[in-house]
Amino acid sequence: ADCHIPVICIDGPTASGKGTVAAALAAKLGYHFLDSGAMYRITALAALRAGLSITAADEAAIATLAKTLPVRFDAGKVWLGDSDVSEAIRTEEAGMNASKVSALPSVRLALVDLQHSFQRLPGLVADGRDMGTVIFPDAPLKVYLTATAARRAERRYKQLISKGISTTLEDLRADLEARDARDSSRSTAPLKPAQDALLLDNSDMTIETSVDQVLGWWQSKQPFG
Ligand code: DC
Repeated sequence: ADCHIPVICIDGPTASGKGTVAAALAAKLGYHFLDSGAMYRITALAALRAGLSITAADEAAIATLAKTLPVRFDAGKVWLGDSDVSEAIRTEEAGMNASKVSALPSVRLALVDLQHSFQRLPGLVADGRDMGTVIFPDAPLKVYLTATAARRAERRYKQLISKGISTTLEDLRADLEARDARDSSRSTAPLKPAQDALLLDNSDMTIETSVDQVLGWWQSKQPFG
């Protein structure tokens, strides 16, 4: 990792709005964007397509697969080899599978170089669970973005309904609490704020307000700004 290329880390639990805030921030700053969750989602999908099970029994095989993952992020689309997996990786099931695969330590290790390769000029906004704690520990700005479980379930509900996917608030809330519990309790790189992270609870904020808050923090860190 090159410490001269700035990185802004946005970590937090499922459906906290990280992805949207991080992407908006990257667009405003003209920075690259790393969706690290997508890498775990793609790895899980690739493992299942290869006939592997997402358990410790197949950990070594999944790690091998993750090291040479033929993944491409291109114009808002995500490709796994010749297959457009943009939609397939966004389902609730894919999220849960990603959470399971991400608890396997050698799979996490296998994805480190790929994540570091996104640190390019003029800068990077990195979205995930361990961007500030493990992947970019020297990042000058680390944000831990949260919202109440009720509010997160509500947002996810609206998203899915607008895509025509039927679901219930109760199911979604149970799903995201299960995912949070798994992500926070694993032994390797658990979900938690970095020691020097700034906390932002956006339960009662719009996306724009959250983005402006983070931009303000970023500008206040610029020596000549
Ligand atoms: O952010 P997301 O919902 O796309 O992430 C899917 C899962 O991937 C999440 O439940 C845990 C895992 N993940 C991780 O362990 N570390 C990251 N940096 C990003 C995601």
